Amino acid sequence: MKSPAGLLFSGIELDRDSTTPLYRQLYLQIRKQILTGRLKGGIRLPSTRTLSQELSLSRITLLNAFDQLIAEGFLVSRTGAGTFVGDEWERSASVEPQPAVPPTLSDLSQTMLSLRSDHFRGVSYAHCGADTPTSFLPSHGAFEAFPQVVWRRLLNRHAQKPSKALLGYGELQGLIELRQAIAEYVFDARGIDCSAQQVVIVSGAQQAFNLLAMLLLNPDDPVWMEDPGHIAARIAFQAHGCQVIPVRIDDQGINVQQGIADCPDARLVFTTPSRQHPLGVTLSHGRRLELIDWAAANQRWIIEDDCDSELRYNGRQLPALYAMDQHDRVIYVGTFSKVLFPSLRLGYVILPNALVEPFCTMRAVMDRSPPTLLQAVTAEFMSEGHFIGHIRRMRALYQARQQCLVDVLQRRLGDFLRITPVDAGMHLIAWLPPQLDDQEVARQLAVHGVHTYALSDYCLQRYLSPALLIGFAGTAQEQAEQKVDALVQALRAMGLLSK
Ligand SMILES: Cc1ncc(COP(=O)(O)O)c(C=O)c1O
Repeated sequence: MKSPAGLLFSGIELDRDSTTPLYRQLYLQIRKQILTGRLKGGIRLPSTRTLSQELSLSRITLLNAFDQLIAEGFLVSRTGAGTFVGDEWERSASVEPQPAVPPTLSDLSQTMLSLRSDHFRGVSYAHCGADTPTSFLPSHGAFEAFPQVVWRRLLNRHAQKPSKALLGYGELQGLIELRQAIAEYVFDARGIDCSAQQVVIVSGAQQAFNLLAMLLLNPDDPVWMEDPGHIAARIAFQAHGCQVIPVRIDDQGINVQQGIADCPDARLVFTTPSRQHPLGVTLSHGRRLELIDWAAANQRWIIEDDCDSELRYNGRQLPALYAMDQHDRVIYVGTFSKVLFPSLRLGYVILPNALVEPFCTMRAVMDRSPPTLLQAVTAEFMSEGHFIGHIRRMRALYQARQQCLVDVLQRRLGDFLRITPVDAGMHLIAWLPPQLDDQEVARQLAVHGVHTYALSDYCLQRYLSPALLIGFAGTAQEQAEQKVDALVQALRAMGLLSK
């Protein structure tokens, strides 16, 4: 049998250059030896004098480590007899380590995991941050143009002297000041006449989609989903066991008549009327009326995802679908992820009155409302006028960025890509030669460090030509040439362009 002294000495490695104090390193390593059963309960440790010589440590260092281990019950000191590993570690020490068994997961989480991996299959953008110089990812905005100074001032104001309300759990529906600011903003910007009572703050649109699926849908319920459409929302409905029914997009937006012909019994439709995601089409006035009429006549729900209606550069901005609905069938979902920044994790749902309480009950099952401090800062950012000013600046900036990127792409790649600039949003569509597989192109580009999304990732059925989504909002004019050059070099290395 190995002696305790031998066991202890052989298992301890101290790093004298580390910023972690030596007593703490010793404490952590002895604790680990006890927890893993290497040092068994009841055994006597060598004296501090022996340890101090063998480990070349001062006795003070040893005593500091031992004191903490004794206080936590890992060691026991018996007067006159020495220091022992606590008896209660006997049982855990005698347990043989078991081979790792994969955890048994619910059917729901297994569905979610497989959907998620399906979604991320192949396109390796996971490690691509907003600072990656060759990223064309659509979700990356001009973070450097965010009014940090104003934001910090508001943040400090609330953080330095937080009210009791700010430190408590907060209202389940969200901070009233933010709900009021949102109700005023959507009235002016989207023609929505609602009260703050109908607004619920959520931690991003994605939470709203999941909560709405829980609230309104049963497993196997059919849901119309725009095809191509927002992947994360599709996954939420699929994870809730719903049947997702693809409804195609044409130049007027979602084809309502096709939806009615293919699946008249759908319980809900998910749509992005102000800028179809990802193609960028605006849902025409006629289609809006068809959709509302169908929902009203059949008691169906419409989720209107209006994630970036603020970012419109050309064409007429129609009022929100919610504003046109006289039958309480539309649920409006907005987010601050595009106009402010996604890590804020703040979004909002505007509900027909009858759904407010059930929705809040659902959310209480999941969590409370998002951090009140950030809600308070966002509310003030809006009420002091910074929000509108920021939107105006971003609109001008993104329009200029799109124009510049389109010019460079046309000049350098006009024979290879067919570029469709967009009237709204943060990305354009670059159509590839028809024989190419866009997922394979996106995957290969990612290997060369150039990050885009493949259009077919957004499709339930393949009926569109292959294309890439190229984000322009995160590409400053002075970077456009260099970024497009990286794209050209990658396409050459992939053998898709002649040298
Ligand atoms: C179509 C669409 N809807 C909503 C969102 C916003 O999601 P969240 O508020 O959860 O960040 C995004 C974000 O990328 C999106 O692309």
